[in-house]
Amino acid sequence: MTSLRIMRNGVAAVALLAAMAAGAAAKEYRIAVGDGAGGTQEALGKAFVAALEKHSGGEDTATLFVNGQLGDEQDTVTAAATGTLDFSILAINNITPFSPTVGTLTLPYVILSLEDAEKLTQGEIGQEMVEQTIEDAGVRIIGWAYSGFRVLTNSKKPVTTVADLQGLVIRVPKNEIMIDTYKSWGINPTPMAWTETFAALQQKVVDGQDNPYMTINAMKFDEVQDYITNLRYIFSIEPLIISEQLYQSMTPEQQQAVIAAGEEATQFSAQFLRDQEAAIREDLVARGMEISDPANGEQEFMELATSTVWPKYYDSVGGKEQVDRALTTLGRDPAQ
Ligand code: MLT
Repeated sequence: MTSLRIMRNGVAAVALLAAMAAGAAAKEYRIAVGDGAGGTQEALGKAFVAALEKHSGGEDTATLFVNGQLGDEQDTVTAAATGTLDFSILAINNITPFSPTVGTLTLPYVILSLEDAEKLTQGEIGQEMVEQTIEDAGVRIIGWAYSGFRVLTNSKKPVTTVADLQGLVIRVPKNEIMIDTYKSWGINPTPMAWTETFAALQQKVVDGQDNPYMTINAMKFDEVQDYITNLRYIFSIEPLIISEQLYQSMTPEQQQAVIAAGEEATQFSAQFLRDQEAAIREDLVARGMEISDPANGEQEFMELATSTVWPKYYDSVGGKEQVDRALTTLGRDPAQ
């Protein structure tokens, strides 16, 4: 063997020993993203990958697979729990079926602003939800994307009152709280997986759906929907989750890098929404969508939903005390 080869082999052996001493080889993770490119989910994902590379000293990275390429949002929770998927970014309403206590975040009209969403997710209540979700669903929430209010879209007519809604076929996620909210408004919505929604709107299997401006834009729903109603019944929160199995297999340094990257991506997401939402709304109008506000400050929608849906879900989200705690954290009075 030449001395050069001996030297090269020696250098390779030292590098290998260093990697073994660090307890980990460089990693390339896969991140499922439910929405199309250009939305808040992808923005959170990109910020997370950049921060992960920084915090791991360039050792670890990840690839985003947008548009449900790695499966429907609810299916990615199961995949991550069983360790066949590393990370997923998805709407909180698609985690609720696996961990009901996060339902507080999808109860209609609990969160009334981005600031409310940040306060709940980044405070004590959010931390408890992280712990509960690990226990219930086998996934750990390490970051939060904030996407704005879920406004209603449809292809038939302007909607400003509960009466206008009657007769419309509206797609909702497979989420009991959201299904019951529409029932409180007098219609029986159609629960459907997110990956099937665009085609269903296009083929007019359903007339409408609700999601934030940012998502409507990322999914190009303006191509198949004409009318928007500015409902504010749910502020869309979209967590970044990691498989708990994967997390537990990491070194403490890797875990720290992942957590720090998730926190940075969360801060980025809030700013992204503040910077982008108004322009996206204008773009949707420029592309032909007509936007209306609900009549009477949305009072009718709000009263029907809160008076029937909240009491029905107190038990599953952890008791009325839990909802009251969220309300008082947001500076509001406990529920009647
Ligand atoms: C859904 O409607 O199923 C989700 O909220 C979509 C999303 O994640 O943007």
